[in-house]
Amino acid sequence: MLDTDQNAASAHDGLAEAMQPAAFQKAVNSWVPHDIVLKDAWFPLAHSFAVTAKPVRRSVYSQPFFLWREEEKAVAAECHPHDADRGETSAFSDARGRYPVLEHYGYVWGWYGNPANADPAHLPSIPYLPDDGNLPRHMLGTVRFDCCAPLSLENLIDLTHSDFLHADVVGDEKMDKEVVEVFYDTETITMVRTCTNKSVAPIMKWFGGVKDDVQQVRQVIRIYLRSHAAIAYGRFSPGDNVQLFHPCVPETRDRTRLDYAMNTSNVKKTNPFRYMMPKASYKVSRQDSSMTSPQSPRYMHPESRRDLHSPLDEAGQKYRVLMLALAERQARGDFAYLDNVSGDCSAIIGYDGK
Ligand SMILES: [Fe+2]
Repeated sequence: MLDTDQNAASAHDGLAEAMQPAAFQKAVNSWVPHDIVLKDAWFPLAHSFAVTAKPVRRSVYSQPFFLWREEEKAVAAECHPHDADRGETSAFSDARGRYPVLEHYGYVWGWYGNPANADPAHLPSIPYLPDDGNLPRHMLGTVRFDCCAPLSLENLIDLTHSDFLHADVVGDEKMDKEVVEVFYDTETITMVRTCTNKSVAPIMKWFGGVKDDVQQVRQVIRIYLRSHAAIAYGRFSPGDNVQLFHPCVPETRDRTRLDYAMNTSNVKKTNPFRYMMPKASYKVSRQDSSMTSPQSPRYMHPESRRDLHSPLDEAGQKYRVLMLALAERQARGDFAYLDNVSGDCSAIIGYDGK
């Protein structure tokens, strides 16, 4: 039996191996995201405001999570409280059928996995959401994708898609230079895209008061692999920074729920961008859905397929390999977190508190 340190080292070595060209290409092209069910993760199941004394139902991979409050405290359980004496509970909950639950960043997070392993240390770091939530409702919203969650996230992390699919909202592909960098560990992947002299996002022209034709753009997508939750942070000059939390909760294997939060508190109260930008998610998500919903069933079964990739979608490919590596490790019974997800990631995403 290996000791913990050696286990960690060998798993890390496994990742290095998975990133070697031959293994990497094989993994990328044998990606069947519907088969991946990762356990031992916190999922942002609901905005805090949506959880009251009256139970609401959410789900993770079709497993029910009823949420409500007793006094002020959030509760997550397999059954509606009226059915709580059903008598049988799953391995994911305690003897009363209750799941580990916590409340942070304005969300109620439910633990999907072995309750004994639930630990606040595995909660993703989201630097620009207030610890206690409390953002105004116009910064919060919910959209759904008829698509498996990893495909939605893979679409997000390949941000070059936005120039084409969302050109009418966030700007087209015209720019002088584009650089994409990718950083990863066993639990996260972070993509940084730097664009020089990019066409100004139309929404910033309409509502954001930006008069220029081009702007300097730095966009970051950081995905917490197990929680299927993404940070989407954009710095625009001229323009306001965009601070979006973009979770993709797998309600079922092919349906995704996105209870998003776009913190526009940094935008002046007199600037309509503060109110309009969070609402743009409804238009943008429909555009995404038009692409990913038909894609999703095509990835349900293994087939000899060679997806076409450009050098700019390195992040999407690495996301696949990292997810497969986690799934493979869990299949061997290893559910440990080898890297920290709750440590402040401000420096990694380039967030300076403004
Ligand atoms: Fe998109």
